[in-house]
Amino acid sequence: MNSKTATAVAHPNIAFIKYWGNHNQELRIPSNGSISMNLGALFTRTSVTFDESLQTDQLTLQGESNTGPALQRVSGFLDIVRKTSSLDSFARVESQNNFPMGTGIASSASAFAALSLAASVAAGLDLEEKDLSRLARRGSGSACRSVPGGFVEWAKGSTDVDSYAISFASPEHWDLADCVAIVSQAHKATGSNEGHRIANTSPLQAMRIEQIPSHLKRCRDAILQRDFEVFAEITEHDCNMMHAVMMTSNPSLIYWLPPTLAIMQAVREWRKSGIPVCYTIDAGPNVHVICEAAYQENIVSLLNEIPGVERVMRSGPGGPARPI
Ligand code: DP6
Repeated sequence: MNSKTATAVAHPNIAFIKYWGNHNQELRIPSNGSISMNLGALFTRTSVTFDESLQTDQLTLQGESNTGPALQRVSGFLDIVRKTSSLDSFARVESQNNFPMGTGIASSASAFAALSLAASVAAGLDLEEKDLSRLARRGSGSACRSVPGGFVEWAKGSTDVDSYAISFASPEHWDLADCVAIVSQAHKATGSNEGHRIANTSPLQAMRIEQIPSHLKRCRDAILQRDFEVFAEITEHDCNMMHAVMMTSNPSLIYWLPPTLAIMQAVREWRKSGIPVCYTIDAGPNVHVICEAAYQENIVSLLNEIPGVERVMRSGPGGPARPI
């Protein structure tokens, strides 16, 4: 046989305790641990075929052939799989998201989680979950958290061997909803790759890193006890800390737009009025508004009333990356 093929599906995730900054940039060993929830309504589906007749790797994204930086990144990642499996043929990669790109949902997490699984199966590697998570981390840090299911913690580790993510609660454990308020679909000026690289230029980064172990414990315990009040307080605090680092790094990164701040303030008012809701924001202007699922209809209609909100996407917790 001269071609080996496999297909896999993985969900993106939203971090409650954020990954920002690397201890080892090349291996993507993070400066700090992080906690996230997979987003079950959203997914990337990826097929990989290693084919001896190919002269180069090929990438099709959302039905369109790609020859730019995305192909380079995928090809570099496939080199790691080829090295691990002693396979030397090139591959055809076809990847499709069921959510639009550029909406503030990090597609690199689900993309590299699905690619890791499809490529490793196609290459004949039978990786256990932790090794799949380690592999996905090499493609995109947050992708290691899209390998296990539900509520996930990425322990930072200190080497390639001990830096991976595990699930600490199933998707059914807590019926949370992520209502993503899209305020801009423009491509971000500074991607997370560059952001991680300059995180240490902020005088606040060292202080943030020092606090992370207690943030992780507070967030993990709040999720395990379904304590929304503590969960909201620590999730917003960690998001604000990460954005403070971004704003004070060199060059300074300001991802928020005026509607971003309007949503943050509205969410705090809603919480004061008794609704279990909080916000978190990644490296972009769109706001992930997290609430208990029973309140999501109400939250979506409240968000739609805020000037500048273009649309709201939503998702509950999701399962692990899986072959299909
Ligand atoms: C702000 O995983 O996208 O979303 O490893 O360069 O692909 P790369 O970075 P990435 O960084 C995610 C940053 C974040 C926070 C988080 O998801 O934890």
